[in-house]
Amino acid sequence: MNFLVWTSSPASGLTGAVRVPGDKSISHRAVMFASLADGTSRISGFLEGEDTRATARAFAQMGVRIDTTSASERVVHGVGIDGLTAPAAAIDCGNAGTGMRLLAGLLAGQAFDTILIGDESLSKRPMRRVIDPLARMGAKIDSGEGGLPPLRIHGGATLRGIDYTLPVASAQVKSALLLAGLYAQGETRVHEPHPTRDYTERMLRAFGWPIEFSAGHARLSGGHRLRATDVVVPADFSSAAFFLVAASILPGSELTLHDVGMNPRRTGLLQALRLMGADIRETNAREAGGEAIADLVVRHAPLHGIAVPVELVPDMIDEFPALFVAAAAAKGTTRVSGAAELRVKESDRIAVMAKGLRALGARIEETPDGAIIEGGALHAGEADSTGDHRCAMSFCVAGLVADGPVRVLDCANVATSFPGFLDLARACGFALA
Ligand code: S3P
Repeated sequence: MNFLVWTSSPASGLTGAVRVPGDKSISHRAVMFASLADGTSRISGFLEGEDTRATARAFAQMGVRIDTTSASERVVHGVGIDGLTAPAAAIDCGNAGTGMRLLAGLLAGQAFDTILIGDESLSKRPMRRVIDPLARMGAKIDSGEGGLPPLRIHGGATLRGIDYTLPVASAQVKSALLLAGLYAQGETRVHEPHPTRDYTERMLRAFGWPIEFSAGHARLSGGHRLRATDVVVPADFSSAAFFLVAASILPGSELTLHDVGMNPRRTGLLQALRLMGADIRETNAREAGGEAIADLVVRHAPLHGIAVPVELVPDMIDEFPALFVAAAAAKGTTRVSGAAELRVKESDRIAVMAKGLRALGARIEETPDGAIIEGGALHAGEADSTGDHRCAMSFCVAGLVADGPVRVLDCANVATSFPGFLDLARACGFALA
């Protein structure tokens, strides 16, 4: 628990141009694959967040030399697919579900034992979704009560490939199984109920591992090697999301966001906001490091409520806290359904956003898998992020359009995904202190 409190006050328009930090999902994976590769890889645009730094520390603990050549750049001296060594202590994944779940898969195939621990939030997040299918592959993983962290992963297990259909759309679970599959005998096949972000698949291919994949399916076999490759990390769409919503709802705004990662499995919020009437233009669309990127120009526009199409949910799973704020500031009713996964993120994001926005005068009804949000005026008040980084930044956005200052509680975890948020937000017009 920490008590960093920010106050976000009404402002008169966001202007200028910003580049938000590097993509979290890609940064985690880049460190993992570069560490396991033969040779030296340079990662540029690496997210200097607490989550991704924890992953880099994990590999340093397992014998990988990782040089910080400049801010947002890492040079990783890969040790090869079988080159990791036993860490002297437990690996602390901090706040990062991605770190813990992907490492669980990867470490299941090592010769040594490991223990994975996390912070208060991560210690409450479900791990059976990776433990159960990994056990079917032959992994030996003990957890705390109820399938919660810490995880003790027993080394020396013989892994076999499986053919597994995920019960929930989860890139973390898919990736954990593919990572275990690198060490398994035979083929590992994963199918998803809805396609999720495919960075693991794309990056494995870029590092030279044979893999076949299409939307919702991936298959690979064990027994190959990874070849060092440089990785260029685009700006994180999920961090850009706060500015897309902020500039949309705040009159007088016209803001440019540079080099934003536009992987279609990440940009569902863009479609949802456009359905609500947002004015967001993509310019300078191009490719960098095998990923689509673009500059986004967002102008204030009056938003109206929508029923969020359920097929968009996995493509905007991290953006609901921001979407809830857009909905609370829009005209009319917004309905979110099919999003029960929000209850097991860094916090129960349905409950935390509903409580916080209600404290600012919004009318929100929670449902088991979503919410019904009546748009209207937001008032000054106090909103508790409960230490959830995305809820904290979303409440800061709400403060822009409230009728007085909004105190946002428990903001320190913003540093897990978006170091420098305060300065960047202030630079384009947030009244944030
Ligand atoms: C992530 C997958 C998603 C997402 C998380 C990052 C990843 O989680 O919410 O922020 O990098 O694979 P789930 O796999 O639990 O949906």
